[in-house]
Amino acid sequence: MKLVVLSDLHMTRPGEVLAGIDPAARLEAAIARINAAHGDADLVALAGDLTDRSRSQAYEDLRAALEQLSVPWAATLGNHDNRDVFARIFGPGALNDDGFAQSAHHLRGEVVILLDSLEKGPGAGGWGQGRGHLCARRLDWLARELDRAGGRPVHVVLHHPLLQVAPVPDPWLLEDPGPLLAMLDAYPDIRGVTAGHIHMATTTLRRGIPYHTIAGGHATSRERFGEGAGRRRFAGPGQMAVILSGAERTVLHFDDYVDANPELEA
Ligand SMILES: [Fe+2]
Ligand SMILES: [Fe+2]
Repeated sequence: MKLVVLSDLHMTRPGEVLAGIDPAARLEAAIARINAAHGDADLVALAGDLTDRSRSQAYEDLRAALEQLSVPWAATLGNHDNRDVFARIFGPGALNDDGFAQSAHHLRGEVVILLDSLEKGPGAGGWGQGRGHLCARRLDWLARELDRAGGRPVHVVLHHPLLQVAPVPDPWLLEDPGPLLAMLDAYPDIRGVTAGHIHMATTTLRRGIPYHTIAGGHATSRERFGEGAGRRRFAGPGQMAVILSGAERTVLHFDDYVDANPELEA
């Protein structure tokens, strides 16, 4: 099974650049990379922050761009998204019966599950809170899908990381991850949990389950260790996860589709 994860596209209005980066051009590069190199993928999962300010035009441009993909795709939402605007532009099938951008995909004997950790923020004009949340309805849905997965290998994709990765604790991760961690711990074959949001490439192993975060499509954060330690922002890379999975093992490649490093000749 081959799964590609895109995250943090932060689409804006046409021509509007964000921190010097044109999100539409980045998305175009990602789609070109997938069609050229990952046309054999079973699914492209979009891990939220599809847009930067939930503008209708940004969702419309995203939908039009995704029509160029040669691979099926599914999306969930991040704190920069607006669930109502997303559903209006992408149609009623974009949300499940509970009204969340959650979906499960049975692919070559494995299961990919997208969770919707967007929590609408009071007074935030329809944007989400920085912190993510999974309410009882969303977790109940997951419990049913894990039951349906029946022990097959499961891959989870959501916007907010569950675990701290930085030396200084990040206040904007998934709120109260305990119930979700317990469900994942109880399932026999979780192959990985892939998130975006912090715009940083990391892997954490906890109780035998790998938790990844990817840099995603927009600005990248990295920890600057040593002198002047702290989190710094960089213009890139533009990065997707490419997950190759079979009965014996699962590998995640951090595939940089925007990469400032020139390839060596030999
Ligand atoms: Fe983001
Ligand atoms: Fe985010």
